[in-house]
Amino acid sequence: MHTMQHLFHETLQDVYYAEKQLVKTLKKLSKTATAPELQTAFADHMAETETHVERLETVFELIGEKPRAKKCPAIIGIIEEGDEVAAEAEDPAVRDVGIIAAAQAAEHYEIARYGTLCEWAKTLGYTEAKEILGQTLEEEKNADMLLTQIAEGGVNQAGERVAA
Ligand SMILES: [Fe+2]
Ligand SMILES: [Fe+2]
Repeated sequence: MHTMQHLFHETLQDVYYAEKQLVKTLKKLSKTATAPELQTAFADHMAETETHVERLETVFELIGEKPRAKKCPAIIGIIEEGDEVAAEAEDPAVRDVGIIAAAQAAEHYEIARYGTLCEWAKTLGYTEAKEILGQTLEEEKNADMLLTQIAEGGVNQAGERVAA
């Protein structure tokens, strides 16, 4: 019988896998990006993502489990799609537009997962875990908002100016 505790633990393993992948992806994106503000945003969020990995390890500990990553097809697909967009864009300005969109898909994945985990932690009475997961949720939302600001602040316009 799968209990809600079991679901919580499964999802934790899933997002643990995703965060570890995203550390590598964000490092790569900080070099692939051309706009300086975008490079900085990716580098900063990579550092935050390292903290997200550590926070998840704390949550595993709090529920009496060993940190274990479970391959998550959803994040693999999002990351692969981003790689494709980056490889296909010949112009750096257009590439920036594409990788922002790909990165936002990853942030939205994380927002969905952490939103769920926070709610479940609340229901299950994992008060401390909920607190910790909530901190990460806020950082994911901020990362997403910052990417929107960067896109609207000039990256999209620069991409639009690139001639066919
Ligand atoms: Fe994260
Ligand atoms: Fe994130």
